[in-house]
Amino acid sequence: MLAYVNGKFLSRDDAKVSVFDHGFLYGDGVYETMRAYRGKIFFVGKHLSRLKQSADAISLTLPLPLDKIGEALNEALTVNKLNEAYIRIQISRGTGEIGLDPALCPAPTMVILTRPFKDYPPELYANGVAVAIVQTRRNHPLALDPAIKGTNFLNNIIAKIESLRTGAYEGIMLNWKGYVAEGTISNIFAVRKGILYTPALETGILEGITRDLVLHLARKEKIPAQEKLMRPKDLTRADECFITNTTVEVLPVTTIDGCPVGSGRPGPITEKLMRAYKNEVQHYV
Ligand code: PDD
Repeated sequence: MLAYVNGKFLSRDDAKVSVFDHGFLYGDGVYETMRAYRGKIFFVGKHLSRLKQSADAISLTLPLPLDKIGEALNEALTVNKLNEAYIRIQISRGTGEIGLDPALCPAPTMVILTRPFKDYPPELYANGVAVAIVQTRRNHPLALDPAIKGTNFLNNIIAKIESLRTGAYEGIMLNWKGYVAEGTISNIFAVRKGILYTPALETGILEGITRDLVLHLARKEKIPAQEKLMRPKDLTRADECFITNTTVEVLPVTTIDGCPVGSGRPGPITEKLMRAYKNEVQHYV
């Protein structure tokens, strides 16, 4: 697999970034994870605009205009002959002397990594996964806004370590006030009495592109949907629950902290949205 590093496609062994890169030294950068279906990057425009928003939020100037970044992403698929793919773009502050001042780094570093997309085991979708509500709280938006898709991932990694200790597939973080925020790499939804709920953006979460599409699909399917401040009991008493992100799409959650959600099986509204998502992907051109 050839990796893109600052305009060049290099082999895995040659693709290197300096130890003085502020992405390495400080986690100072932004990224996006995308999926390509049949050689087309799903919602690339939305990912690029979120990349720009994240970069603006940390006062990072992107090294190329967005359309050129889009071209580099497509080129990464072409040179690697990929159709069904995972794509990650990462832009860090760049190489500079040790110190926090961004002015120490004259040029950002841009890296694109791709790999063939390996489908998740079908059992995950057929049976659902276990999640754990972790003690680690999601970053306060006034400290490090979760709306920024930054490469500084320690908040999520500490939560992930905690959830792994319980054997859960994903850890769900609460916000500073104890409202349900999001998973370590996913957004979360619950269904109760036929209504779909997901944490409102004001909770302090990433505005997931999959989350937005699921809300749109729910409207299309006439499933009432609400974004609101959610208590942990809104999850534990739910009839159905699922998580979303670009790579897993819509993934049923069937246990929370070891207790079954509803019947303990993926629910009908979850399954309807899983199908609607697949249908959307199929018709994406
Ligand atoms: N993660 N919340 C967090 C904290 C995330 O990291 C992600 C995505 C999401 C879902 O966003 P989207 O639907 O746009 O993928 C929510 C990606 C998959 C990652 O970290 O690789």
